[in-house]
Amino acid sequence: MLILGIETSCDETAAAVIKDNKILSNVVHSQLALHAQYGGVVPELASRAHIRNISSVIEAAIKTSGYRYSDLDGIAVTRGPGLVGALLVGIATAKGLSLALNRPLLAVHHLEGHLISPFLDSQAILPQTTIDQTEIDYPFIALLVSGGHTLLLYVEKFGHYRLLGQTQDDAVGEAFDKGARLLDLPYPGGPAISKLSLQGDNKAVPFPRVLLDRKKFNFSYSGLKTALRVFLLKNPQFAKEPHLRQDLAASYQEALIQPLVIKSIAACKKYQCQHLIIAGGVGANLRLREALKQQADQYSLHTHFPPIPLCADNGAMIALAGGLRLAKGENHGIHWNAQPRWPIETLS
Ligand code: KG4
Ligand code: ZN
Repeated sequence: MLILGIETSCDETAAAVIKDNKILSNVVHSQLALHAQYGGVVPELASRAHIRNISSVIEAAIKTSGYRYSDLDGIAVTRGPGLVGALLVGIATAKGLSLALNRPLLAVHHLEGHLISPFLDSQAILPQTTIDQTEIDYPFIALLVSGGHTLLLYVEKFGHYRLLGQTQDDAVGEAFDKGARLLDLPYPGGPAISKLSLQGDNKAVPFPRVLLDRKKFNFSYSGLKTALRVFLLKNPQFAKEPHLRQDLAASYQEALIQPLVIKSIAACKKYQCQHLIIAGGVGANLRLREALKQQADQYSLHTHFPPIPLCADNGAMIALAGGLRLAKGENHGIHWNAQPRWPIETLS
C-alpha cells in the first residue's frame, strides 16, 4: 500500500511517502530558525510558514519517492493534538488532495504516529542506521516524550491505548527548553542541554528526583525548573564557569531523565510487558537511551527507539498510522475538523 503522510501539528512542515512500512521519502521543513528568536513556537508564525511551505514539501516527497500522485492508495494527515491553525493547513491540503485524486483520507492522532514510529523501515532513507532486529510484540509499554507530552501508555494492540500516567504540569521537553533558557542556551533546549552535559558530572548538583506516588505513573517537571532557577540565584558561578555549567546541565538532565527510566521500567514489570517503545523528540536524548537500555537489560526487557531523525515530527509516522487504519477498512472522508485536544485513550 502506498500512502502519503502529512504532518503540520506544530513547527515542522512534513510529508512522506511509504510503501507498507518502508519509507520511500521523508521531507521535513523545520521552522526552528523562525521560532528560535522567541524561545518557543509562535502559533501564528507557525501557521503562516506551513502555508508557505506545504506544497513544495509534498511535491518533494512525491518526487523523491519515485511514484506519482495517481499511484497513491491513500492520504494520511495529522488531525490533532496540536496547534489549531497549524493543523488546519495540513488538513485542508490533505482534504483537497483526497478529493482531487479520489483517494481515501485518514485522520491520524499525532501520538499514535509517534508511538508506532519504531515499526517504520527507514533503511532506504537512513542507510547508515543500525536496525534493531528484535521484533516488537504486543502488548507493549510506550513512553511518549516531547515538547508537549509526557505520558506512559499500555498498548494492547494497534489502536487500543490505556493511559497509565502523564505529566501533571510541564512536559519533559518543555523542562529541557525552559532549563536551557535559564542557562542562556539556544532553543530548542533538549539538544543544547544534552550536548553541554556530555562532559559534565551528573552527580555534581543534587536535584531531587520527582517521583510523586511511586505506585502511579504520573510525572511532574515544573518544580525542577524552579529548583534550577533558585540554584542559579544562589550559585551564580554555575552560570559562568564552563566546567560548572557542564556539571549543572548534566545534573539537571539526569533529574529529568531518571523519573522516566524508573516509571517506564516499573510499568513494564507491573503490566508484564517485555517491550518498551520510546518516541517523541526527547527520545533523541542519548543519556535517556543509555539509561533506559541499561535498566532494561537488567530485567531482560527490550527497548525500541526510532532512529534519531524519526524521533522528531515527520510525515512517515503519520503515513504508517494512516496506512494501518486503511488496512483495517477505515476511511474518514472529509467531514471532520481539526482536534487540537484529543486524548489518545479515546481512540479505538
Ligand atoms: O516531538 P517533538 O519534535 O515536537 C513536539 O513537541 O511534538 O519534540 C520537541 C521537544 C523539544 O522540547 C526539544 O527540546 C526536545 O524535544 N528534544 C530533546 C532532544 N532533541 C529534542 N530533548 C532532550 N534531548 C534531545 N537530544
Ligand atoms: Zn510530536
